[in-house]
Amino acid sequence: MKTITFHSYKGGTGKTSIAVNFAWYLAVNGHNTCLIDFDLRAPSLHSYFPLSRNEQVNYFTDYLLDLSPIEDIFRSIPVTSDNPSLFWISRASFEFIRQESEQRQKLIQKDTSILPKLFKTIKYLENLGFNYLIIDNMPGVSYRALDALIASSHIVNITRPSISDVTGLKELAVNIYSRLSEDARVGLIINQREEQDDRVQAFTKESKELMEDLKLQARIHDELQKAMVRLNNLFEFHIIAHIPRIPFLVERIYVPDKLDLVMKDHRLQPFIEALHKLKKWVKEG
Ligand SMILES: Nc1ncnc2c1ncn2[C@@H]1O[C@H](COP(=O)(O)OP(=O)(O)O)[C@@H](O)[C@H]1O
Ligand SMILES: [Mg+2]
Repeated sequence: MKTITFHSYKGGTGKTSIAVNFAWYLAVNGHNTCLIDFDLRAPSLHSYFPLSRNEQVNYFTDYLLDLSPIEDIFRSIPVTSDNPSLFWISRASFEFIRQESEQRQKLIQKDTSILPKLFKTIKYLENLGFNYLIIDNMPGVSYRALDALIASSHIVNITRPSISDVTGLKELAVNIYSRLSEDARVGLIINQREEQDDRVQAFTKESKELMEDLKLQARIHDELQKAMVRLNNLFEFHIIAHIPRIPFLVERIYVPDKLDLVMKDHRLQPFIEALHKLKKWVKEG
């Protein structure tokens, strides 16, 4: 089984959007897939998979806090009517959404019992015949984010083309990923890239602004290329895919009952194409 963790330096880069849809994409393509919400600061699988009425499922965080056995923390999601592959999810407790979450306070501390629980989860799913575990990690560097990175066979960093994201990426790559990369493969997806066409249309009246903006984009691109060259001297680090900013909520992509519609929407093609490239990259090693 492969364990793929989505990570970033900052929040809001697209980890959850890509993790959810990648998990769904793998399941649709016949692989037994499990998706875990491990962003303990901003858990968000609830918005994709709301609690159904009378649901009696415990949370992944209950297992981490010794409040639930591992058997009770997963919910099975039907993929499509004719698809027998397993698609399981495990969410973080709703309690974490509260500002003053006591469970979160407990779980973000230094705690050497969490990593073994992640490994136990991997073993448990492996024994049940799962092919992929997808972890939607918390951004930045924290005890739990590191635990997830250590437990992974593949790390996918999601970065937006902005100066602060690229600076953060360099920091993570040099100080964290390069030290893990003997065991894990690390790749990068550039998300929410502004398409030049959109920009030209939006700024035709403000040509000066456009010029400044294009210059900034070029600088970021330049920074990123330089960073990639430097990082590739440290360890193998690929750009897996670029995804443009898609001008409507990506959250809507996960609609298994409207699969045909999604597949036909040409605006989503770059997103689906990126999932395809990601799957190819994961399968390669
Ligand atoms: N390629 C994209 N185009 C447009 N909006 C996007 C794209 N990727 C993500 N978003 C939007 O950005 C916001 C943050 O994405 P999310 O996946 O929740 O990020 P994270 O999990 O890293 O915090 C969401 O509203 C999401 O719909
Ligand atoms: Mg998220």
